[in-house]
Amino acid sequence: MKTILVTGANRGIGLEICRQLDLLDHTVILCSRDLSKGREAAKLLSDRVIVSQLDVTNEESITKLFENISNVHGKLDVLINNAGIGIRSEEANHKILTGVKNIIEKKFKGVWLITKNFTPALRKAGFIPQKKSASDVPLTIVDNIMLTNVYGAWRMIQVFLPLLMKSREGRIINISSGLGELKTLTGEYPGYSLSKASLNALTIMFANELKATSIKVNAMCPGWVKTDMGGPGAPRTVSQGADTAVWLATANDIPSGKFFRDRSEINW
Ligand SMILES: NC(=O)c1ccc[n+]([C@@H]2O[C@H](COP(=O)([O-])OP(=O)(O)OC[C@H]3O[C@@H](n4cnc5c(N)ncnc54)[C@H](OP(=O)(O)O)[C@@H]3O)[C@@H](O)[C@H]2O)c1
Repeated sequence: MKTILVTGANRGIGLEICRQLDLLDHTVILCSRDLSKGREAAKLLSDRVIVSQLDVTNEESITKLFENISNVHGKLDVLINNAGIGIRSEEANHKILTGVKNIIEKKFKGVWLITKNFTPALRKAGFIPQKKSASDVPLTIVDNIMLTNVYGAWRMIQVFLPLLMKSREGRIINISSGLGELKTLTGEYPGYSLSKASLNALTIMFANELKATSIKVNAMCPGWVKTDMGGPGAPRTVSQGADTAVWLATANDIPSGKFFRDRSEINW
């Protein structure tokens, strides 16, 4: 059985990855920025799941976790870089309108579905948030997204590499997005898209750098998933969104330096 660390796992796809890995009897380290939220989430899982505090933007938090895992487990088999932010912070009027939008989305699903059909018109009229484009997104927003989605994952890999080296076949799985696919970059959600394109580049860089070792490095896209980030209008369940990451973590023979969706390779 493997020792597997999942970042940003107190909700959404990260929590579901932990749930599926726990069912397969692996030793799961469920990481959460807020320890109490992590503990609350882990109540849904078996007692074997280990809950740890981790903010991927905080060097001290990462080092503390590294020392802990190093002392208790002595190695790490799989690192899943799942923690991510973005989409919502790139919508103008975000702060004012998100609360109202969330209530409509969560409490009145029927109204939300009707609203969704008129989204372009309502967006134009200012009733729902305008999306930022590459030409007007404040770079402070982009900076903030990069800090979590790219540098957070990068720092995790740098710090945990010595422990992954101690595994018979260490694996790094970066949870990316189709919005980072180079061919389809449009400037829609520019900071988020750039962060995921960069995360993909980081995946290729590490896969090449670690070619001579037994460590495999891959990226995957969960598709558009019903979570806080994806919203209730998303077509996929968390179970579908988590599946490929769980497969990459546990399958016997996987390649390295690839991008996957639904267990199939896709283009960068
Ligand atoms: N949902 C989709 O449709 C979709 C599509 C493509 C890719 N993805 C990717 O899938 C991953 C998971 O997304 P999701 O939909 O499950 O999102 P989510 O429900 O918003 O969950 C995001 C998780 O990341 C954590 N997080 C954020 N900043 C962090 C930090 N600095 N340190 C540690 N944890 C942090 C959050 O913790 P808090 O609770 O403390 O905020 C939360 O647990 C993300 O990388 C996302 O980009 C999602």
